[in-house]
Amino acid sequence: MSNSEPLIEVQDLHFGYGKRPVLKGVSLRIPRGQVTAILGASGSGKTTLLQLIAGSLKPQRGSVRVFGQDVHALSQERLYALRRRIGMMFQKGGLFTDLTVFENIAYPIREHTRFPEDVIRDLVIMKLESVGLRGTHKQHPNELSGGMARRVALARATAMDPDLMIFDEPFAGLDPITLNVICNLIRTLNDALGSTSVVVTYDVKEAIKLADYLFLMGNGVIVGEGPTQELLASKDPYVHQFLHAEPDGPVPFHLPARKLADELGVPC
Ligand SMILES: Nc1ncnc2c1ncn2[C@@H]1O[C@H](COP(=O)(O)OP(=O)(O)OP(=O)(O)O)[C@@H](O)[C@H]1O
Ligand SMILES: [Mg+2]
Repeated sequence: MSNSEPLIEVQDLHFGYGKRPVLKGVSLRIPRGQVTAILGASGSGKTTLLQLIAGSLKPQRGSVRVFGQDVHALSQERLYALRRRIGMMFQKGGLFTDLTVFENIAYPIREHTRFPEDVIRDLVIMKLESVGLRGTHKQHPNELSGGMARRVALARATAMDPDLMIFDEPFAGLDPITLNVICNLIRTLNDALGSTSVVVTYDVKEAIKLADYLFLMGNGVIVGEGPTQELLASKDPYVHQFLHAEPDGPVPFHLPARKLADELGVPC
């Protein structure tokens, strides 16, 4: 695929659980090299969209191309090969609690490669170093704070130096300082690895600080998109309501975020 081609291309995606539709024709193109955020209220279908992109759910209509490949037309083997290039940080089901921090990060490396033990060791230590947690490799996840565990999950998501990193609600439940640390790490790791990152969140404030490009999801479709600064200046009533977290307006839901107008442009 050429460099100008989007890394992810979703076209007219429809999906529902049982009879209840969740996605009603989502289309988006995610460029390479940037941090893109997909914003939507809780329950709007963000995690569902990620599962469709990763090929773990099948769409009822529409298509998903990742790295130029039609995800839902791939054999199991080729889907597995594609997933090797993707690092995911999940909203639920974080770290393996019965494994040490070291073994958690080594897990995807062992799963995907036959590297010798000394190489795995160096890789894991390097990844832990990159999130500032080198000293924790012998600990178990339940011995870490929530924020530290999130950083270990970040290290695990980047263990294979993925071309694409996907983060599902990376900021949920964090104190403001840890939140800034995670925000900075996502940006730094993305730029250092020359990767592409997709952050899915209901946290408008953090998404604005972190992302180069925003998609706004509501009512099963994309209601707005654009480079972050352009979108912030948008006069479109949907977009305005979304980004400024107003409870009343054309979008029929409420976003749990604070007023943003006076906080714009603050670096992570
Ligand atoms: N396995 C499932 N079976 C049935 N319904 C589901 C399932 N997973 C999600 N849903 C429903 O689909 C809708 C979208 O869920 P999803 O988890 O994709 O939302 P979300 O935008 O990620 O929400 P949040 O911000 O709270 O993580 C919700 O109404 C949810 O209840
Ligand atoms: Mg979710």
